[in-house]
Amino acid sequence: MSSGFPPRNSLLVAALSLVLTRFSCGSQPVPDVPHIAAYFGTKTRYEEVNPHLLRDVLCVNSSVLKPPPSERCSPVHITAVIRHGSRFPTVQNIRRIHRLSQLVRTGRDTETTETTWLTDIRSRWENWYTEDMDGQLVMKGREDLRNLARRLSALFPALLSEENVRRISVRSSSKHRCVSSAEAFQEGLQRRSEVQYSHRVDDELMRFFERCRGYVEGVEKNRTALLEVERFKHGEEMEAVRKRVADTLGLHHHSLTADLLEAAFFLCSYELSIKSLHSPWCYLFDEDAAKVLQYQSDLKQYWKRSHGHMISGLSSCPLFHHVFRTLDKAGRPRRSTEAPPEPASILVGHAETLLPLLSLLGLFKDETPPTASNYHTQHGRSFRSSLIVPYAANLIFVLYDCQRGPRLQLLLNEAPVRFPGLEEDAPLYRDVRATYRHLLDGCDFHRECEGRPGRGPNTEL
Ligand SMILES: *[C@@H]1O[C@H](CO)[C@@H](O)[C@H](O)[C@H]1NC(C)=O
Ligand SMILES: *[C@@H]1O[C@H](CO)[C@@H](O)[C@H](O)[C@H]1NC(C)=O
Repeated sequence: MSSGFPPRNSLLVAALSLVLTRFSCGSQPVPDVPHIAAYFGTKTRYEEVNPHLLRDVLCVNSSVLKPPPSERCSPVHITAVIRHGSRFPTVQNIRRIHRLSQLVRTGRDTETTETTWLTDIRSRWENWYTEDMDGQLVMKGREDLRNLARRLSALFPALLSEENVRRISVRSSSKHRCVSSAEAFQEGLQRRSEVQYSHRVDDELMRFFERCRGYVEGVEKNRTALLEVERFKHGEEMEAVRKRVADTLGLHHHSLTADLLEAAFFLCSYELSIKSLHSPWCYLFDEDAAKVLQYQSDLKQYWKRSHGHMISGLSSCPLFHHVFRTLDKAGRPRRSTEAPPEPASILVGHAETLLPLLSLLGLFKDETPPTASNYHTQHGRSFRSSLIVPYAANLIFVLYDCQRGPRLQLLLNEAPVRFPGLEEDAPLYRDVRATYRHLLDGCDFHRECEGRPGRGPNTEL
């Protein structure tokens, strides 16, 4: 099987570079990080998931690649599904920030003990958000993607090399923040001053969720489907946090709504992820409060984008099939005279792109679903959006050529993740295909999303 892969010498170079790249990282002093920085759900910085990047943003740990050492494996292809980098708030959140900022300036009802940070929130903090910023990628977001590309090219030097750039396909969601991210990723791969950009916009692949009727009507626009989220938002735990924060700000309990409370929490995240600032807003929340707010985000992602409803995962069938078709092609035996396979496929999208795909693959599925009423038994859950889909989150399928045939490994945010039910970090590709046989043979977008006449969407797998 391995005879079909690229010429031996390029394999050797790849294998050698695997051994030679060591874990060598700089040790810059770590900047001041707010105590609640790791709890922002999808608004979490990538550095909170990989804190060693705070010391050295190009730090690469090559021991995350785990093919069996005895099989002389070398990577021959990667497919990377990547979320855009740090961005501005969307219009809806910018409006909430304006309302909140007005409220804390004018709405004080009771006297409060004035601490420095409270004075900062009330009089020194400047509300610099404007509606035209709506969700655009920020400078830090460009750096997120540029640096990710540079780390990945250090991890896969034979694949993401400068010479290969023209052979790497890049597809992106049509959203501005994704297209900008796709460009920044390409900047990271190229050393020259005149960067060559090329990408294809493909919303069928990267924004499948808005095209799946069964999903849009059955989940996104369906209040019943998101009942747990709504219940928790007005439940005991959230109410306690809301009242505590209102008291701290000297506000009437009813004037600080659940939405404004969340806006205050996210202000801490935006100031950090956009400007690397430790905002005074962060002090409004202790770690326990942050955990409650994080749970609210996790509930939303779980019920809206993940295992809560089977159709969410199934809506990603086009992307699933695209990934496996690409891997099939890259792993196919070929003569030494044939052109080598495409070294990499880069797919840039959203948290809403990654979560359904991860769910379809059966990852982060806990035994007990998180609900509005079981917060206290969910501390050990694996479904944590802060860790799974921070800004610049990335899921990488690494295809190796090995003596016993091709193997596949998953990396999520640059750390190994195992396929459900498979015991190895890099199982044989044919075993992965066997695991997903039911999806490879089915998972038909039109059938799942449109349903057949006379029956609803097929949610039984
Ligand atoms: C490098 O990656 C390996 C494998 O995931 C992990 O066990 C190890 O802790 C990592 N090293 C550092 C310094 O992060
Ligand atoms: C809305 O969600 C509920 C609960 O998941 C489901 O039973 C119902 O069929 C959905 N309604 C529509 C219109 O899909």
